[in-house]
Amino acid sequence: MKKCAIMTMKGGTGKTTTAVNLAHGLALSGKKVLLIDCDPQRNTSITFGNEGKRGLSGLLRTGDVDIMLVRDNLFLIDSGGTDLLEVELLLGKDRDREQRMSMALSNLKGSDYVICDCPPSLSLININVLTFSDEIIIPVSLDYLSKVGVSQTVEMIDKVKQLTSKKSINFRILPTFFDSRTNISKLILEKIREKYSENVFRTVIRVNTALREAPGSNKTIYEHAPLSRGAYDYYRLTEEIFDWFK
Ligand SMILES: Nc1ncnc2c1ncn2[C@@H]1O[C@H](COP(=O)(O)OP(=O)(O)OP(=O)(O)O)[C@@H](O)[C@H]1O
Ligand SMILES: [Mg+2]
Repeated sequence: MKKCAIMTMKGGTGKTTTAVNLAHGLALSGKKVLLIDCDPQRNTSITFGNEGKRGLSGLLRTGDVDIMLVRDNLFLIDSGGTDLLEVELLLGKDRDREQRMSMALSNLKGSDYVICDCPPSLSLININVLTFSDEIIIPVSLDYLSKVGVSQTVEMIDKVKQLTSKKSINFRILPTFFDSRTNISKLILEKIREKYSENVFRTVIRVNTALREAPGSNKTIYEHAPLSRGAYDYYRLTEEIFDWFK
């Protein structure tokens, strides 16, 4: 079972879009995928039109959770919305506070991939997700502030490694919102490749309106516009993930 989080400290870089479309791409390839919405905004759950059953907050509170089949091979755990914020405050007092998600999911079986969509914050929830996950995808929307978000996320990964004595958490950076008409996209992509070299995916996700539209009809890009650039780019990412995780 590969446990992978989509995380960066910067908001609006394509985390949810990546979580949803990567998870569905893997599921369409015949893999069993569990998608966990770890963000109180519930954007992943909303994309699938989920009505907010007992989610991650319930799992962390009592161990009870609803795991919903949302597509063939694709299962979803809702975040629990703002209840997750309350749980986070309660966890703050516990001694094993950064391990609670790993403990709650320790008996999880039957999935080939677990994909976590994370909130853009230096939060206890994200520390729990890092403790649980083996691989981190860091989307960078090819602007200056999202590049800063990459360094902050890499720093947080290092801190969690020290804090939990976890041996390895691998990360790879995913360039998103690439716009060939702008110099800033090319410049930041160049700098990211220079600094993080083999830790950057070859796949680049281009700006694509179909990706922006898809959640509005509760669809993934493969359902909304299977012939779009967005579908092609996320298909390429899925292929690259098979290589990375093998
Ligand atoms: N490649 C793209 N081209 C055009 N629009 C995109 C692309 N990727 C994502 N979007 C749109 O940009 C917005 C932000 O994307 P998304 O919600 O995936 O970011 P996020 O990192 O999850 O944000 P947050 O930090 O708030 O959780 C959404 O409206 C989404 O549909
Ligand atoms: Mg999001």
